[in-house]
Amino acid sequence: MRRLIPSMVAATLALMSGQTHADTLRMQCAPSKEGRQYCNEIKQRFEAQTGHTLEFIDLPPASDEKLSLFQQLFAAKDASAIDLFQADTVWIGVLNKHLLDLTDSVSDIKQDFFPAAWQNNVVNGRVKAVPAYLDSGALYYRKDLLEKYDEQPPVTWADLTRIATRIQQEERAAGHKNFWGFVFQGKSYEGLTCNVLEWVASQNGGSFIDAQGNITINNPQAAQALNMAAGWIGKITPKGALGYMEEESRAVFQNGDALFMRNWPYAYVLAQDSSSAIRGKVGVMPLPKGAEGESVSALGGWQWAINGYTKNPQAAIALLKIVSDAESQKRALALMGQAPSRVALYDDPQVLAQAPYLADFKSIFAQSMPRPATQTKRQYAQVSRAIYNATFNVLRGDSDGVTAVADLQQRLERIKARGWR
Ligand code: GLC
Repeated sequence: MRRLIPSMVAATLALMSGQTHADTLRMQCAPSKEGRQYCNEIKQRFEAQTGHTLEFIDLPPASDEKLSLFQQLFAAKDASAIDLFQADTVWIGVLNKHLLDLTDSVSDIKQDFFPAAWQNNVVNGRVKAVPAYLDSGALYYRKDLLEKYDEQPPVTWADLTRIATRIQQEERAAGHKNFWGFVFQGKSYEGLTCNVLEWVASQNGGSFIDAQGNITINNPQAAQALNMAAGWIGKITPKGALGYMEEESRAVFQNGDALFMRNWPYAYVLAQDSSSAIRGKVGVMPLPKGAEGESVSALGGWQWAINGYTKNPQAAIALLKIVSDAESQKRALALMGQAPSRVALYDDPQVLAQAPYLADFKSIFAQSMPRPATQTKRQYAQVSRAIYNATFNVLRGDSDGVTAVADLQQRLERIKARGWR
């Protein structure tokens, strides 16, 4: 009953303002318990405010799988499958012409967001999406175990390898048979492109493709970075990590079965949940670097975007405004650990009390390096596929660093052909 009253009022207001019928809008919703709760809260607000109905759509978990699905929907100019969805940071150039132009409708909120995140979604001066949350790769570690073995958090990849090897050995000897040193995302998918960018760029191997669009991957530092990662498999990293995405690696770490984990900020809130085996034992810090390099975090994050073929642009924009406001971002942080894209929330006492670790992420965000998406435009999906396939081959032992970077250089040159389009 309490829920009905505001929606009836809103429906009446909508009728009075000339809107003659209520429509059904569809938005993407994460299938987890927390994801559903967040979406239901949005639904209540949206329906009460507009008198329309909101339905939820479930999407596949991997970024590149989601992208293929959207490419199919948009190729068919599908107007009804989805209205509002999250686009990965690296998709804006790929999907650009299928995204509703938001320039005029969101000019009033522009100044509330991190400028770099906002700028990522501007193509030829037109705003195509609004930052939903920020992501940056980080190293999670078990504070209690480093203390137990009198070790410091690792600064270089060599430190990480040595400490992981030692503690894994000692923990196993003490009876924890399935304990591992380091877990990351080793499956052949978009997440591996993020991991390999961090290994390569933090050891002075560049970022595959430079800002001018030149392909730079065929270099000895990059080859060596790939060999280093291959050397972890079966030693400090389970072979099963060749099938891990974010959630699989988090499951191992959160179960108490790994010393180090590479993951995004969301993993922190979940690791601290009352159901977590490692609650209170987790530290987070910038990823290690090479002896000669600097720590690098892949820049990730998701953006709210609207299907350019939607039949309900006005209602979809109203919905986008709700999910983009400070209240929704606070809920997304509390429930799903998503780091806000609104600047002011990083100084909000309520947010800081609830997520003090965000202060640690400030410096990690500052070290973020984008994947080569802007310069490769619509070809990014192919570029990333070539990168993660080549990396996967080395991790699996089917190629070695030197051969893989030479092959990858050629493959990227072929994709580029006469220039990035
Ligand atoms: C995270 C990042 C996204 C990235 C993905 C890879 O969701 O935010 O940018 O593509 O991980 O798995």
